Amino acid sequence: MNETKHNLKIFTTVNEVRAFVREQKQAGKTIGLCPTMGALHEGHMTLMRAARKACDVVIASVFVNPVQFGPNEDYDKYPRQFDADCKKLAAEGVDAVFHPTPEEMYPAGYGTYITVENGITDVLCGARRPGHFRGVATVVTKLMNITQADKAFFGQKDAQQVAVVRRFVADLNIPVEVCMVPICREASGLARSSRNSYMTAEEKQAAVVLSRSLRKAKEAFEHGEHTAETLKTIVRAELETEPLAKIDYVDLYTYPALLPVDVIDEPCLLAIAVYIGKTRLIDNVILGD
Ligand code: PAF
Repeated sequence: MNETKHNLKIFTTVNEVRAFVREQKQAGKTIGLCPTMGALHEGHMTLMRAARKACDVVIASVFVNPVQFGPNEDYDKYPRQFDADCKKLAAEGVDAVFHPTPEEMYPAGYGTYITVENGITDVLCGARRPGHFRGVATVVTKLMNITQADKAFFGQKDAQQVAVVRRFVADLNIPVEVCMVPICREASGLARSSRNSYMTAEEKQAAVVLSRSLRKAKEAFEHGEHTAETLKTIVRAELETEPLAKIDYVDLYTYPALLPVDVIDEPCLLAIAVYIGKTRLIDNVILGD
């Protein structure tokens, strides 16, 4: 165990976390877990603050989880900046960070994976990134078990991920409350993401089209347009005004069940994935919430 000057405890093994958690639980403290893959930005800090407010002890995890990346995805180039991450966590008053190696999480002989099989992983990013949510569900289940968290905090930017986590937490009777924190945006409207660092200044400017397209659809919805096809057309039309944008998907499903919908009469997720150059970005808005 290592300790920074702001009292952020740094753990790299499951046993260290378990010993820390045992102590905290014996003292009657509640634990908040903020799972991350590092390269922390202001969006992550909103998770830390929500956890800080709701729980006595905040544990962040920083782990680029190999099993949620496909063979042609960005696992190797995913930004890793653990020292800078620790400074940010310490400044937010986070109590501990768990930063395991892949071998600590998946030792030789590892063979257990969690799959959510009710259809919610077959759409949106689940359809485009086979195995992604199996990897997310597996690592998040492990992190919940390791930290014995009372509450776990996730960002709405990954709204499908939150739906998947809520599903397996309920199905597996994991005693944790899953809390969704609103999307954190730059002043331009661009949703904050560790992957924004892949973009050039010109691409970042072009990427503002994602939030702009969703805002147009939300305005139309608020003015009474509740037909899914029309709302998707509004988003597509706006995205197509940006030459650097290549649409991966524009979709609308009920939320959190992620079932097809024609006319919105319950909370629905309008979600998009768009390539700006080589960078794949996602964004969404929940309508009718
Ligand atoms: O949202 C993320 O950063 C990751 O999917 C998570 C939840 C930390 C699991 O690796």
